[in-house]
Amino acid sequence: MIQILTERPAWKALEEHYQTIKDLHLRQLFADDPDRGGRFTAEAAGIYLDYSKNRLTAETLRLLVQLAEECGLRERIDAMFRGDRINSTEQRAVLHIALRAPGHEQILADGVDVVPEVHAVLDRMTGFADQVRSGQWLGHTGKRIRNIVNIGIGGSDLGPVMAYEALRHYSLRDMSFRFISNVDGTDFAEATRDIDPHETLFIICSKTFTTTETLANADAARRWMLDKIGDFRAVRKHFVAVSTNAGEVSEFGIDTANMFGFWDWVGGRYSMDSAIGLSTMIAIGPQNFRAMLAGFHEMDAHFQKAPFDQNLPVLMGLLAIWYNNFFDAQTIAVLPYEQYLKRFPAYLQQLTMESNGKSTTLDGARVDYHTSPVVWGEPGTNGQHSFYQLIHQGTRLIPCDFIGFCEPLNPLGSQHDLLMANLFAQTEALAFGKTLDEVKAEGTPGWLCPHRSFEGNRPTNTLLVERLTPHTLGTLVALYEHSVFTQGVIWNIDSFDQWGVELGKALAKRIMGELENMGSTGGDSLKHDSSTNTLICRYSAKKT
Ligand code: F6P
Repeated sequence: MIQILTERPAWKALEEHYQTIKDLHLRQLFADDPDRGGRFTAEAAGIYLDYSKNRLTAETLRLLVQLAEECGLRERIDAMFRGDRINSTEQRAVLHIALRAPGHEQILADGVDVVPEVHAVLDRMTGFADQVRSGQWLGHTGKRIRNIVNIGIGGSDLGPVMAYEALRHYSLRDMSFRFISNVDGTDFAEATRDIDPHETLFIICSKTFTTTETLANADAARRWMLDKIGDFRAVRKHFVAVSTNAGEVSEFGIDTANMFGFWDWVGGRYSMDSAIGLSTMIAIGPQNFRAMLAGFHEMDAHFQKAPFDQNLPVLMGLLAIWYNNFFDAQTIAVLPYEQYLKRFPAYLQQLTMESNGKSTTLDGARVDYHTSPVVWGEPGTNGQHSFYQLIHQGTRLIPCDFIGFCEPLNPLGSQHDLLMANLFAQTEALAFGKTLDEVKAEGTPGWLCPHRSFEGNRPTNTLLVERLTPHTLGTLVALYEHSVFTQGVIWNIDSFDQWGVELGKALAKRIMGELENMGSTGGDSLKHDSSTNTLICRYSAKKT
């Protein structure tokens, strides 16, 4: 018999337990247990997680872990690492963990060890990246490649752009790296306006090689190149592809000798450490790329083996469940105190929301609980001068992840201390607030006191890492990947499909055809609702 999540004993116990916790203040929890700040912490793979400023007790933790056990998290982790087809709606294995497995490990997909294939592709990427970085790979007219332009969207863009920005400190500074994703022509125009096609290499990244936006931009890139160079043979030297679809790649005109493959057991949003990371490898070099893979792997091993109450991704996943499903929090803010991680929240949006934005269980039933929260964020301290007001004094509960590093990559006087002082101050202020009495005691006029007081009791996680390196970036990304997995298991959903993007794609294709034929058929033939029909007609009449 299928056990419904909300009927599980641990869930019911958590509902009851929530009633005893919901009004408990973090001020009280810290006063009752002076060691709390050391007790509710965990450390693995170079990441120190302080989750003491969360609204929980040891009993909460015990019940959350019990929930994970009742939901079969251990079995699901084993199934993923074993290569079972846990992406059930697409009948696929989910093996991004194999992308970072050391060569001596064996990981089977349908009985075949995939690790040798992974390393064969890594070796080809290494050879290619070395040639480009050293200037051996020349453009069609004999010029050295100075610009890399990655064309892709979703997982074929967000991972590469995030990783490039995050690891820019380690990148080759005499090359430029650009990313085109949006089908809006502005993205293409701005990325290419000041670069020389003779010195430019396009990496067309698309798992399926059928994604409309990417193919449109790839077409535009080929036209742009041929307009300037005037010889179709230039494509061979200026275009490479990363895809699972060799047929479409060669149809496009890219020699499959210049194609880097991956596999259907890698989801798009889990692919930044596959060949989709070719631009990252060219930017930071193969050695650094492999260091990043080692970081991913270290976190994978921790996730696979550590007991749940010391397991970083499990703890973070369970905390997300606690706020999402019991406190009814709708969002989670991710706040990196590291400018290089400015695209990390955007990356996590796809990872989290495309994975867990589902309302059907694995058994095909409609869920009767909430699934993925909305993820958002900006680097500190910019966010502090923008939206933190709402986190401190708004009416909604917004759990936050603060991410900070002990060592700066660009030391500048005492500015790193200032940055970190802000991080620590924010988590303190959010947890403890400032009571009316405290405000009054400062001599604030009575009428102003309510405005100047802070309730506090706003939960935060703090992730403290020594230094942002390729290795630590790998551990951080894997931490969130497995936290998302943990949440998906609890909610009993398929975290690895994305059927929700299909309807919009199909309708856009239909409307595109209608826009092309508008001149001959006119608006009368449109069969949409009255709003969509009117909008299409108005747009057609006004467009240039
Ligand atoms: O938006 C849907 C999606 O399939 C994502 O999951 C994926 O990352 C993106 O489109 C791009 O897909 P592809 O790499 O096949 O072009």
